[in-house]
Amino acid sequence: MVEFTINGKKVEAEKDEAILDVAMREGFDIPTLCYHDTLGSDGRCRLCVVEVRKGNRKRIVTSCLYPVENGIEVLTESPDVLLVRKTVLELLLARCPDSEVIRYIAKEHGVSNTRYAKDNDKGKCILCNLCVKTCEFNVGVTALGMSGKGPAKKVTTPYGEPSRVCIGCGACVAICPTGHIYMEDRDGVRMIWNKRFELARCPKCNRYHAPVEQLEFIAGKSGTPIEELLICPDCK
Ligand code: SF4
Ligand code: FES
Repeated sequence: MVEFTINGKKVEAEKDEAILDVAMREGFDIPTLCYHDTLGSDGRCRLCVVEVRKGNRKRIVTSCLYPVENGIEVLTESPDVLLVRKTVLELLLARCPDSEVIRYIAKEHGVSNTRYAKDNDKGKCILCNLCVKTCEFNVGVTALGMSGKGPAKKVTTPYGEPSRVCIGCGACVAICPTGHIYMEDRDGVRMIWNKRFELARCPKCNRYHAPVEQLEFIAGKSGTPIEELLICPDCK
């Protein structure tokens, strides 16, 4: 076990844990955008910065990636942390000026504008990779990936075409922290990632509830009869 302090409170952790995981378990509030409890974080948003003091040295680190160490002092809201976090929020506001979530978190931290040039090309995407990871690891279809380099990097389906393997489940929409991914259900059809999905109707309440391709995928994986899956969650 490793022992250290967070804002003066003594805490214990397993040796490979990240500071953020321990801080959350101990009830400390650290803002995050790109962390998810089932998928971890790729360290993209930098909102989770904290100060780590060890002897005479102090550093600002990304708490979702920084491993715990014996004897360190962690501060989640020191003046330096708050200053860096505000700068991070200004950068996020510049990258995604239309993201309501980013604007909300920024406002909570007293940031209503940005000194940096606004980017109107990136939509609301912070390249956190959570959509790609949930598609691969939680759903198991790998319909999404990152393409391009540097400023041109973006999340997309292969060659930007409707993906052959996408089942239209919307897991990427649900996990996206910034509301970047467009999905629309209308008149029995779901549109997502430029692909059209026929929605299945529940035989009991007649409501559209899930793409037929998604239900077929689940039936194939789980062996559950499709007739059973056609019944919507509310009527089960
Ligand atoms: S679309 Fe959303 S979930 Fe995917 S990388 Fe961008 S911000 Fe993250
Ligand atoms: S939660 Fe740590 S960088 Fe996003």
